[in-house]
Amino acid sequence: MTLPPFKLERYFAKYEFSTEFLLCSSDCEAMSIADLLALEDGAAEKLQNTWLGYTESQGSLSLRKEICNLYKSMLPEHILVHTGAGEAIYLFMHAMLTVDDHVIVHTPHYQSLSEVAKGVGCQVSPWIAREENDWALDLNELRGLVRPNTKAIIINTPHNPTGYLMSRADFDELNQFVQEKNLILFSDEVYRESEYDPATRLPAACDYGEHAVSLGVTSKTYGLAGLRIGWIATKNKKVYESMASLKDYTTICNSAPSEFLAEVAMRNRQKLIDRSLAIIKHNLIIVDKLFASHASLFTWVRPKAGSMGFPKLLKGDVEVFCDDLVRKAGVLLLPGTMYDESKNHFRLGLGRKNLAQAVGRLEVYLSEK
Ligand SMILES: Cc1ncc(COP(=O)(O)O)c(C=O)c1O
Repeated sequence: MTLPPFKLERYFAKYEFSTEFLLCSSDCEAMSIADLLALEDGAAEKLQNTWLGYTESQGSLSLRKEICNLYKSMLPEHILVHTGAGEAIYLFMHAMLTVDDHVIVHTPHYQSLSEVAKGVGCQVSPWIAREENDWALDLNELRGLVRPNTKAIIINTPHNPTGYLMSRADFDELNQFVQEKNLILFSDEVYRESEYDPATRLPAACDYGEHAVSLGVTSKTYGLAGLRIGWIATKNKKVYESMASLKDYTTICNSAPSEFLAEVAMRNRQKLIDRSLAIIKHNLIIVDKLFASHASLFTWVRPKAGSMGFPKLLKGDVEVFCDDLVRKAGVLLLPGTMYDESKNHFRLGLGRKNLAQAVGRLEVYLSEK
């Protein structure tokens, strides 16, 4: 199998550690190990005593128990821990899809959500989110996309890159549809728990039944990307066992210190959520002002959840704009072309503490143009 370069990750590889202001990050502000350990009495000492042998392949029981608290009906045997959400996406597609299968993918999307399926040889159809509908998905369109060999539907809500959050009624209907059609719903929920209004939080797909696989990670809402701890939650034994079996060929098991730290994080996750949401909400006020004062240059569909939005540049070419901005002002935006999106959008990150300074630089750049 050959996979094309992961455009978004290559773009970040070029700029992430050499650019002063990252104004397009998808993760929320991270923290030090010391700050994380300070959330819990005795955690620092326990970390020192963490055993550095191989760990349980499915993830330690104590971590899986903590992860279960994100869900209504999950038990530790339904959780399979991975090295980031990235590994789980890779293994799901390899474990469950074959060349004869067709999958439908919420689009635009984080590239691996379709690319690995294409690499396996599957047919892939986009289920397109449109800006004119506030990036909402249309369930009637989905019905028209299903083929006799459709195996899975892949969605991501809260959504990277638009910040779209599906309505409860649509999510209920989607789950019912997938169950009726006997398909698999791979539900990328890595931005879950970052809803600006907690009342709009969707149930996790895995709690609807065996048809669904929920994907989670410590990187985004909880601001702990460096742990590289992700997981799937599913009652579907076939999916679980096939992925667990394939994991023996990738990472075998997870990093012991990361598992310990992820457990501390999950036990204290409300504090991490509050911290991330405080940053995002503060940043949203700044960004709303920016777009209000440049309404002739950008469109802005305000996100409902998550740490990013997907505005459109109304004048000029978005790749040229982003390239010039990073070179002249040291501010990184992510052109939508990294998502194969050709309508001049760009990704704007909302989760970092230095957003006000980054936007200040952007304002100066725009005023000098
Ligand atoms: C929608 C989505 N899924 C999965 C991932 C992968 O997460 P991680 O890099 O923590 O493995 C990302 C990362 O940006 C993402 O945005």
